[in-house]
Amino acid sequence: MRSTGDVDLEAFRAEAHRFVDFITRYLAEGEALPVLSRVKPGEIRERLPQAPPATGEPLDAFLGDVERLIVPGLTHWNHPSFFAYFANSSTAPGILGEMLAAAFNANAMLWKTSPAATELELVVLDWLRQMLGLPAGLFGVIQDTASASTLVALAAAREAVPGLEARRRGLVGQARLRMYASDQAHSSIEKAGIVLGIGQDGFRAIPTDALFRMDTGALAAAIREDRAAGYTPFAVTATAGTTSTTAIDPVAGIADVCEREKLWLHVDAAYGGSAAVAPELRFVLDGAARADSIVVNPHKWLFVPVDLSVLYTRRPEVVKQAFGLLPDYLRTPEEEVAPNLMDYGVSLGRRFRALKLWMVIRAFGHEGLAARIREHVRLARVFRGWLEADATFRVSLPSPLSVVCFEAAFAGRSVEDRDRLNLAVMERVNASGDAYLSHTKLRGRVVLRLAIGNVRTEERHVRVAYDRLREAALALA
Ligand SMILES: Cc1ncc(COP(=O)(O)O)c(C=O)c1O
Repeated sequence: MRSTGDVDLEAFRAEAHRFVDFITRYLAEGEALPVLSRVKPGEIRERLPQAPPATGEPLDAFLGDVERLIVPGLTHWNHPSFFAYFANSSTAPGILGEMLAAAFNANAMLWKTSPAATELELVVLDWLRQMLGLPAGLFGVIQDTASASTLVALAAAREAVPGLEARRRGLVGQARLRMYASDQAHSSIEKAGIVLGIGQDGFRAIPTDALFRMDTGALAAAIREDRAAGYTPFAVTATAGTTSTTAIDPVAGIADVCEREKLWLHVDAAYGGSAAVAPELRFVLDGAARADSIVVNPHKWLFVPVDLSVLYTRRPEVVKQAFGLLPDYLRTPEEEVAPNLMDYGVSLGRRFRALKLWMVIRAFGHEGLAARIREHVRLARVFRGWLEADATFRVSLPSPLSVVCFEAAFAGRSVEDRDRLNLAVMERVNASGDAYLSHTKLRGRVVLRLAIGNVRTEERHVRVAYDRLREAALALA
């Protein structure tokens, strides 16, 4: 009975078993579903009740409604033929970790509000650091997303500007700050600038070379020019695995510039960083050990369910200086001897995310994680090989990790036609339900991307994507 208002625990147990059966079936058989949802805008909303239930409903009605109302409106990110954006995975140990986190409902804001949550986070992030080949002494803290990790890193960078005291004084009437990233950097960097009061004018995009890597000479020149114009340069974000093409900026060269100019170096390895669990792919983090901060997203390519991003920093004291704020009601006797992780980010309340990362690392082991990453890189190479052997397609950029950028050639057609036709090829493949991929624009031209990153993706899934692409390109030629 509902003496507490919550569901009776025996009813919970029975329903939880049905939910787990559903999840298991979804993971085992979900690939029969179209990857990309076929609903029209507003369709799901219309089918849902427009007012909340006045009285409680029995739990056993929920799963049927999920199947009937929600599943058709899902684009299946956990599908082995999901190749859009950066494909990711929610694996079984990660799902179990999420279940436990919800059951404990621990808030990892202070050490005292759940010592295990804070201490597991510290330990598991040190495991991850070791697996990535990063140096000892880095302090790691979990954030929800890379956007948040980068915001926190750049806030610390702003805090480190001598004499600025932005935290106390704000920025009005102060020095005009400038920060830098390549013209291929993720929009989260510019957005952090907007939030931090640096403004879009305070963000300068540095040109990239033919392979979309930051031009270090252009960076040094921009800093010189900005100083001469009265700006205060303060931070550079290098990207290890850009969103469009997975280009890897020359981080060591950028670190030289940052050291010379005394600028904070942040490395955005949100996607690429995970590759470093495979020792032969550690080149992705070359030079990153010299950074002041690094972001890696286990929720992108390390088989942990969304959301879980990790911010590493050599300078936790600066991050704490930027974010630490201790009202009386949050004071604890342990604050001098144990970290309160609320001091290293925007949110006070913090989900117990470390559990799912712990479970994924334990279930796969370092070698198991490296093996999956390696397999994804191999699959990308296989796909690329098919394209290269087929005059229907053109591949002009390197694929250092698990993403292949390409276009359908449409020989003899104008540039504008090729762009339009490539988008049409993509729409056709996506509408087939057999694969889902996305596009980008490089120097104004449409390029298609196939991103491999789901733990259940096999060569046969990649082959179907290739076959559908080929059929679509030939049909539209
Ligand atoms: C290189 C890079 N950085 C940052 C982000 C932002 O990630 P998040 O969604 O975790 O904020 C992305 C997202 O794809 C990315 O590709």
